[in-house]
Amino acid sequence: MAIEIIAAGRAVPPRRVTNNDLAEKLDTSDEWIRSHTGIGARHIVDDGIAVSDLALEAAWNTLTLAVEERLVPETTAEDLAKTLDIIVLGTSSPDYHVCPATACIVQDKLGASRAGALDIGAGCSGFIYGLETAAGLLELHDRRKRALVLGAETLSRFVDWNDRSLCILFGDGAGAVLIEKTCAPRAGPGKRGLLRTILGSDGSGAEYLIVRKGGSRNPYRTGDPVEKAPCIEMNGRAVYNFAVKKVVEIIEQFLSEENITMEDIARIVPHQANARIIQAAAKRLGIPEEKFFINIEEYANTSSASIPIALHELNRNGGLRRGDLILIVGFGAGLTYGGSLIVW
Ligand code: ACO
Repeated sequence: MAIEIIAAGRAVPPRRVTNNDLAEKLDTSDEWIRSHTGIGARHIVDDGIAVSDLALEAAWNTLTLAVEERLVPETTAEDLAKTLDIIVLGTSSPDYHVCPATACIVQDKLGASRAGALDIGAGCSGFIYGLETAAGLLELHDRRKRALVLGAETLSRFVDWNDRSLCILFGDGAGAVLIEKTCAPRAGPGKRGLLRTILGSDGSGAEYLIVRKGGSRNPYRTGDPVEKAPCIEMNGRAVYNFAVKKVVEIIEQFLSEENITMEDIARIVPHQANARIIQAAAKRLGIPEEKFFINIEEYANTSSASIPIALHELNRNGGLRRGDLILIVGFGAGLTYGGSLIVW
């Protein structure tokens, strides 16, 4: 039995904000942002758009692709939505602060009438955590067959647009994959799908990426003066060091424990936080940067959406063939980290 990725889709807001656009309002420049991060632009939602709107668009895109490419027997995306058993949505920017889960809003609008739905809060590792959670839930029960795994973010709502060291980094977007339990083998000759996942966390770094206001530690109370909107605070250097270390460790762990070499891996699809993190990891591993798929120039850091957006784009551009061994790897607030080895 294998858990296979059947289709990957995405949604990106149409409004594109370039580095030069930001430089008109902030003391920054296209040159600084490109040289320190590899980012050239980001896509930002308009007022009135919430994360479930982006997630829903990515969900329909994924289901429609699966139907159009005849990867499933259903003939409409609506019929396919009704067969979903689980919807898992990784996000740090949900529609609502406490409840309900954004995944439930997506479930309702999709008409996924029999699906259980839950959110995953693992920062930018949310998609990897979500994929493993959904795979585990499918494996737990004979009758569960299909799941939709999403990563969706509107972090533009939670950054201080006057903080030049932070606001330049993030973009909005959503990505999704349809996964299915099949009778292909998970090991040995002809193995397919999700082979193995590594998940980890280091909560001692919780302070390095944090929104302090609004949770049970520091709640809003009636009568509080209206103050600055809650924003992400980040220790960029600490996150950078953690990220490079963990990306290298995860890749090395897969190579040694799964008895594979870098030549066996067609592509590594990393979380797109900063091109310099990926370049530093490639250098430490002694592998060419081209092994990593990088699209941060156009989208910036879309947090839990970055890996499924990258998978969609790589696949649509012919960069993935069925049977390719790929590795996804990420890290994020928590601090969390993780990676999955997948036969596409
Ligand atoms: N434009 C111009 N100058 C800037 C800007 C800017 N946008 N931002 C900072 N600077 C200045 C600083 O003020 C500082 O000036 P000073 O030397 O006069 O004090 C100088 O540039 C260097 O600042 P640093 O913060 O040391 O710059 P650094 O090279 O560390 O780059 C960055 C900062 C890009 C944030 C880097 O630390 C980084 O990428 N860290 C990881 C961040 C990350 O990946 N976060 C998200 C990961 S998890 C997740 O995805 C949620």
